[in-house]
Amino acid sequence: SDWLYSDTVKDHFMNPRNVLMVDEKEFPADARGQTGNIKCGDQMLMLLKIKDDIIVDVRWKTYGCASAIASTSMLSETIKGMDIKDAYNIKPEDLVKALGGLPEFKIHCSVLGDKALRTAIDDYLAKTGRAGMLKEAATVICTCLSITDKDIENAFHNGARTW
Ligand code: FES
Repeated sequence: SDWLYSDTVKDHFMNPRNVLMVDEKEFPADARGQTGNIKCGDQMLMLLKIKDDIIVDVRWKTYGCASAIASTSMLSETIKGMDIKDAYNIKPEDLVKALGGLPEFKIHCSVLGDKALRTAIDDYLAKTGRAGMLKEAATVICTCLSITDKDIENAFHNGARTW
C-alpha cells in the first residue's frame, strides 16, 4: 500500500483497544490523568485501575487524531499487567516502533497518551503518599533535530516558536 500508515496503525485506529465508552463515573479508577498536546491542542484522558502498583485495567479517550488514537490504543495494551514504574518509563518511540512506525510529522501525536499516562501515575503516587517519586525523563520526539518534549514545553511556555 502507498498509505503513510502501517497495517498495525490502521488496525489500532479502526479498532482501538480499551477506549472509555461509558461515563467516567462507571469506570471507578485509582488514577486519573488528563493532558493536552501542546503542539496541536488535542486532549487526552486516561483512567487506571491499580493493585499493588500493577496496572490491572485502563480506559482512555481522546479528541486527538488517528495517530494519537493508534498510539494510545497500543499503549493501553502494553501497560496492562505492568508495574507503574515500568509504565512510567515507556517512551513514545517504543510505541512508534510497536506500531511499525509513524510519519515523522505525526510523532508528536504519540506523546499525548504517554503524557496522560504519566499524569495518571503521578496522581496515583500523590494519593498514596509518594508524590513525585518517579521522574519523567525528557523524551526525544524528533530524532533528526534531537528535539525533546521538554524542549517543546519550554519553547511553548516561553512563547517562542523556533520551528
Ligand atoms: Fe494532535 Fe495528532 S495532531 S494528536
